[in-house]
Amino acid sequence: MRIDVAATPAEFDGADDGTAVVVIDVFRAATTITTALANGARFILPTTDVEQAVRLLEPYGETEAVLGGERDGRRIEGFHLGNSPREYSRDAVANKVVILTTTNGTRALSLTEDAGAVFVGCFLNAGRLAAELTNWPRVSLLCAGNNGRLSLEDWVCAGSMVARLTETARPATEEPEIAAPRRRGRRPRYAALRPGPVEPTLGDGAYAAWAAFLAVKTDMAEVLRSTEHARHLVELGFAPDLDVALRVDSLPVAPRLAEGRIAPSPEKD
Ligand code: MLT
Repeated sequence: MRIDVAATPAEFDGADDGTAVVVIDVFRAATTITTALANGARFILPTTDVEQAVRLLEPYGETEAVLGGERDGRRIEGFHLGNSPREYSRDAVANKVVILTTTNGTRALSLTEDAGAVFVGCFLNAGRLAAELTNWPRVSLLCAGNNGRLSLEDWVCAGSMVARLTETARPATEEPEIAAPRRRGRRPRYAALRPGPVEPTLGDGAYAAWAAFLAVKTDMAEVLRSTEHARHLVELGFAPDLDVALRVDSLPVAPRLAEGRIAPSPEKD
C-alpha cells in the first residue's frame, strides 16, 4: 500500500481506480455526514452549489428530504439545517435524504470522481475507515482545509489515520520519534524507521501528517480547539460542535460516495 496526504484540495493530484480517497473535514462537514448516517439518514446528496441544492430537493416531498449546509459557518437562508452535527439528530434526519452544501467539505468531494472508492473521514470514524482501507493498493487522504489553506484539525486527523494504517503494517514497538536532532553528516533518524520495501510506502505529505499527529497526540483535543476554524466556530456559538467532532471512534460508520450519493459502506466480515 502507498499512502499520500494532500494538505489542501489544490495539492490533490487526482486519483485512479486503484486508489481509495478519504475526504477529511473534521470541523465540520465530515463529522456532520457521519452523524447524519449514524442517525438513520437514507443517504446524503453533496453539492457545491446552493441553487443546485434547492433544485435537488424538488423531486422529494416535504417530509422525504432536508436541505442542510452553511456558508461562513452559518446556516444558509431558507435551509432546514445548518452544518452543526448536533442538528442531524434521529428526529431531524431518520429515513430522510439529506442534501448538503458546505464551503470546503462538499467542494473537496467534487474533486474525487475518478477514484476507485471515495470515503468521508473524521475522528468519529477514523478506526472504522482504517479497517475499510487495509486492502487498497493506494490510499489518498484529502484534507478539505479552510478556504484553500491548511487546517490543522484535518491534517492531524489524516496523520492519525496514517498512524493506524502503519500500525497494522508494522509491529507496535516501532514507536517513531519526533524531530530527531540532525547531527552533521548523519541522516535524520526517521530514515531508520522508513519501512523500505515493505508496506506502507509513505508519501512526504503522509509522513509529515503522521509526525504532526505524533507531536500533538498527548493533548490533541486542547491543541485542535485552538485552530483557526475552531476559534471561528466558537465565535459563532458552535463550541459544542468541537466536543462532538473530537470524539475519536465514537461512530464506526464508513460513509462512501458512489453515483453522487453518500451512504454507509456495508460492515466488513
Ligand atoms: C466546511 O465544509 O467548510 C466546513 O465544514 C464548514 C463548517 O461547517 O464550519
